Formats: sequence, C-alpha cells, structure tokens
Amino acid sequence: MTTVTDLRGKAGVEPITMLTAYDAPTARIVDEAGVDVILVGDSVGNAVLGHDSTLPVTVDQIASHTAAVTRAVEDALVVADLPFLSFGVDEAESVRNAGRMLKEANADAVKLESGAHTVSLTERLVELGIPVMAHLGLTPQRVNELGGYTRQGTSEEDANAIVDLARAHEEAGAFSLVLEHVPANLAAHVTDELDVPTIGIGAGPDCDGQVLVFHDAVGLSEWVPPFATRFGDVRGEMERAVDDYVTAVEDGTFPAPEHSHVEEDLDSLY
Ligand code: KIV
Ligand code: NA
Repeated sequence: MTTVTDLRGKAGVEPITMLTAYDAPTARIVDEAGVDVILVGDSVGNAVLGHDSTLPVTVDQIASHTAAVTRAVEDALVVADLPFLSFGVDEAESVRNAGRMLKEANADAVKLESGAHTVSLTERLVELGIPVMAHLGLTPQRVNELGGYTRQGTSEEDANAIVDLARAHEEAGAFSLVLEHVPANLAAHVTDELDVPTIGIGAGPDCDGQVLVFHDAVGLSEWVPPFATRFGDVRGEMERAVDDYVTAVEDGTFPAPEHSHVEEDLDSLY
C-alpha cells in the first residue's frame, strides 16, 4: 500500500512513476509493474469514451472507472481526477464530489486542475481528510480559454505565476503537483522550490516523477502528443489478433474440435 506520505518521502530520493488506468485489467498490469501512482484521469474522455476533449466527462464516470481500478489494485496509490466543473463552482458541491471518490470509489486521493481559485478549496479538502494532488501548467479543462493544448509558462510573467501557484498549493496542503507541458527549466525550478514531489508530463527530466496516459505509453492511442513515447505496440497486437480471429472464423479453423463438445446421447435424435 503506497500512501501520500510514502510519496512525499520519495521526493528527491528516487524517481516516482505514475500512469493512468481506467479499468481493472490495465490497472492490474500497471500495479504489478510496481508503478507508484495510478491516476484515473479525466483523459478517460479521450482515451476510452471517444470524446475529443475531457470536458464532457462526469463525476459518475470517474467514480465508476475509479471503482474498477481500486478493485484491481493492491499496491499503487490511486488518484481520481475531478472532472470539468465538478469543483470550483461551489465549495460544498466540490467537497461532496471529491468525497465521493474516497467514499464510493475507494480512491486514496483526488487531483484537480489548479489555479488561484483552488487554493482555498485544496486547504478545505485536506482539512477534511481528502488528499489533493495539484496540477499546473497546461490544464486541459481550460482548452477553450487557452485556445489549444499549448505549452504554458513560456513568458517570465506566466512562469512566475506558476511558481507562485505551486508554492500556494504546497502551503494549502497538496501532497504532490503535476506539471504539464511547461519548459524543463521552469519545472526544474519548481521542483527545487517545493518539498512535495512534482510529477511531470512534457515538463522535462528534472521533476521528481513522470506521468503518461496509459494508452499513449503502451501504443494503443492512434495519436500521441509530441512529449510522449510509445513503449509498445499494443494497437498493432490488437489489430493482429482481431484479423486472425476473423480469418479463422471465415476459413473454418475456429472453433476447432477441442473448442466444442458433441453429446453422444443426442446422436440418435439429431
Ligand atoms: O487526465 C490525465 O490523464 C491527466 C494526466 C495527463 C496528468 O491529467
Ligand atoms: Na486530467
């Protein structure tokens, strides 16, 4: 069982690994590989549910996918991502939505896309016993406002704002911070400034840990962002298996005799 305290203790000591997972079989694979943190990301919207952004993802969907993941996981810390507008509109509603992830779905913590508007909410959640992973830099729930999935923190003013917000969320009690699509030197600086671990995606090698979307990492996604690497070709293997199945049914080699059973008592009837 990995706890948020274990994770804090790893900052600057050994690299932290984090991957997303949205279902029991992939969560089992990720957990058995020894990955420290499993994120049930709102990237489920793109990776699994066929949406072209994370915006339509609901609290019920994240709760359902998180429950599937926690049923399969033994060791990793499981973090549930709070979807667009499920937090930040109203504090009581935000707390209830975050609380559902722990009460109903057995998550260990929540992640929320952070900004000036989430400092006091982070403090409130932590006070109530809901550990919070913060998320700065590119926050994809703001894609419409940002005008695209663009690199963040590229000007001095924007970079300083990220450093200040990172500190504010650490002070508010966040146990870790995701930095997405920011310059590597900015991520290195934030990592130096904070005691809690930073987890980077498109943020260079100097964060305390790295995170990727499972479907990108294993090569199941049709498209991967430029900062990701496919470590496998799961898509190719799935295509091969499905092609072989179709061929075997069409040419009559599946099912073979060992896949079925003839009941001799019925021989006289049929
Ligand atoms: O939803 C997600 O997968 C994420 C990670 C990319 C950090 O937020
Ligand atoms: Na996310």
